[in-house]
Amino acid sequence: MSLHDVLKPVEEARGLPNPHYISQEFYARERETLFFNNWSAVAFESDALNPGDAYPVDFLGMPLLLVRSKDGDLRVFQNTCRHRGMILVDKPTHLKGPIRCPYHSWCYDHGGNLVRTPYVGGVDVDTHENVKPDELGLFAIRSHIWHGVVFVNISGDAEPFELANAEILERWAEFNQPFFDAGPASHFEMSVDANWKLAIENFCESYHLPWVHPELNQISPIDVHYNIESENGFSGQGSRNYRQLSGENGQAFPDFKSISKKWNAIAEYISFFPNVFMGVHRDHCYATILLPQGPERTIERGALFYADEKIQQPHWLPMVQENTRIWRGVFSEDVGVVEGMQKGRHGVKFDGGKFSPVMDGPTHKFHQWVALQMLAAE
Ligand code: FES
Ligand SMILES: [Fe+2]
Repeated sequence: MSLHDVLKPVEEARGLPNPHYISQEFYARERETLFFNNWSAVAFESDALNPGDAYPVDFLGMPLLLVRSKDGDLRVFQNTCRHRGMILVDKPTHLKGPIRCPYHSWCYDHGGNLVRTPYVGGVDVDTHENVKPDELGLFAIRSHIWHGVVFVNISGDAEPFELANAEILERWAEFNQPFFDAGPASHFEMSVDANWKLAIENFCESYHLPWVHPELNQISPIDVHYNIESENGFSGQGSRNYRQLSGENGQAFPDFKSISKKWNAIAEYISFFPNVFMGVHRDHCYATILLPQGPERTIERGALFYADEKIQQPHWLPMVQENTRIWRGVFSEDVGVVEGMQKGRHGVKFDGGKFSPVMDGPTHKFHQWVALQMLAAE
């Protein structure tokens, strides 16, 4: 079989072949083609919340640095010194002054400009005519914030984020408003021994609900779900039976502002290609960023967001924790099947599998998205 079989209509198509999940060579090709050439998720906006916060990310081996500057802007740079290429910041830090390279102390301001080069012209001589600071600023990486997530386009030549993602931005326009998390209580992280694509694929579908999430299936059963299929970089599913979490005194999280009635019962969940899944509800949203660690391991970083800053007040904490616990639990239930599919892909006779034309449409859309770009890059 070949990638052309993936491009066939869902009734006839095969899934992506095994090497796309287990081979280092394919992983290296995806790094460039799927991750660096598109808009990929690398961190949460709240990872660098306050002016002076610096947050490094090793994104498929590419060292990135998020810096929140005094003016409140979040900028992304390559985390590599322009002198001898030392990594500048190796753990989350609050910068009191410029970004100082630990090797020879070249310093960069929060806009990435090179501002100090001590002894570059010899002891006590901090300038040299051949070292021109205005040519040696940090490499800026194109970035965009949406849905609480920081996206980057490392190649620099993807379509502008809003153009590339116009369809989902329009579909979820009502949620385009400030998001608030409650610090560590709204975050979770897990490590999964599987290729990142299997996590994305699992999130595309509701087919597995009755068997993998029996409790969730009681509240939001498989038959109230609908498929979301798009040609524009996302797919997933929706539920027509969203029930808000209620606290001890029957209180609910505040709704997003001016949210239409349509969302009283509807919740939607999408895999946003390549590497984040997201959910929207009238009173909270979430995003889980996938950070691939090789062809067979992925770190999942999740965060839940709310409509109102007041959920950061201590009396909301038990409900915030409970909501995180519930979603973390759902994601944990998925780990076993995602890891199981990874093991299955070492079966040398596996032929990409057979899609259910009714239930697996969104998954097939993702396979097509991958196949089209991998073929174009060949
Ligand atoms: S490598 Fe950064 S100052 Fe020398
Ligand atoms: Fe699931």
